[in-house]
Amino acid sequence: MRAIYASSINPDDPLAGLVVGERPEPQVPEGWTIVQVKASALNHHDLWSLRGVGLSEEQVPMILGCDAAGIDANGNEVVVHAVIGEGEDETLDPKRTLLSEKHPGTLADLVAVPKRNVVPKPAGMSFTDAACFPTAWLTAYRMLVTRGRLPKEGSVLVQGAGGGVATAATVLAHAMGARVYVTSRDADKRERVEALGAQAFESGARLPERVDVVIETVGAATFDHSVKSTKPGGRIVVSGSTSGHQATVDLRRVFFLQQEIIGSTMGTRQELADLLDLVVSTGISPIVDGVYGFTEGRAAFERLNGGDVFGKIVLDHSR
Ligand SMILES: NC(=O)c1ccc[n+]([C@@H]2O[C@H](COP(=O)([O-])OP(=O)(O)OC[C@H]3O[C@@H](n4cnc5c(N)ncnc54)[C@H](OP(=O)(O)O)[C@@H]3O)[C@@H](O)[C@H]2O)c1
Repeated sequence: MRAIYASSINPDDPLAGLVVGERPEPQVPEGWTIVQVKASALNHHDLWSLRGVGLSEEQVPMILGCDAAGIDANGNEVVVHAVIGEGEDETLDPKRTLLSEKHPGTLADLVAVPKRNVVPKPAGMSFTDAACFPTAWLTAYRMLVTRGRLPKEGSVLVQGAGGGVATAATVLAHAMGARVYVTSRDADKRERVEALGAQAFESGARLPERVDVVIETVGAATFDHSVKSTKPGGRIVVSGSTSGHQATVDLRRVFFLQQEIIGSTMGTRQELADLLDLVVSTGISPIVDGVYGFTEGRAAFERLNGGDVFGKIVLDHSR
């Protein structure tokens, strides 16, 4: 079958080990199902894998990808949940794994997943839209709702404007009725987030108010500003550290203002189902940077690796 996979690991040049080619069809263990992938989407995670973060030289070749929508073995239209784990909250299972870490990922004609890892695709939602939700959008949803406990008519700061998690958080927080502030180093991106209903500011700028929840995926470059911008009792929710993972924290603010610094990773199957319900009930759509044919996979990865994306990069498996 067709597959986009890591053939080798290269920490400095992630695209060196990227292959758009052929791989054997995946095994389908007892209790699993096979999904014919109609559309998939890329994440920073795929670049981390090619760099050897979470994937070792012994594990390649490995099919990449966490996001997919398609048709399961029973003919149902489904969205694939990428977190494979046990328990009520599988994100807390110490043995949990994401598709493409231990088991082959979604950038292929077929992907095998545990039966519980498929969620019905809402009727009327395109496969290319549906493929955007399982990773970046699910992460943003859990950060805002479950971990961030965003209050009604609350306020949110999203650090960094263009990333998949950041754009998802901006759209979701606005749809939930929050006042949304977004920072970006880039004037074009600041203009684009204003069109999503947010107020945009230069990175590090003083905001009109201190916020209830900060969505932090940038890391070292913005963390001090996140702490300064959080109101007493507010929450800084961290799910990534693109600019560096060693941040400086003014602990005086953390204790004096009783702030919470909260880690967050992906989400549960139930949260993915709840997210899809919210998307349908509010009528929002994913922000898509571009849709590429499966055979244009390398160009899609080059775009992601270039760092100048705004929203999700999607692969349409029909071309
Ligand atoms: N834990 C999870 O479950 C999970 C899930 C998904 C993603 N993640 C992680 O979350 C992070 C974000 O991923 P993503 O794909 O959404 O976005 P991304 O492409 O990594 O970029 C996010 C934003 O970071 C800003 N940025 C990057 N370098 C910066 C710097 N040196 N100084 C200031 N700002 C900088 C950019 O904003 P501007 O250019 O607008 O300033 C960019 O739009 C990644 O590290 C990813 O691995 C984690």
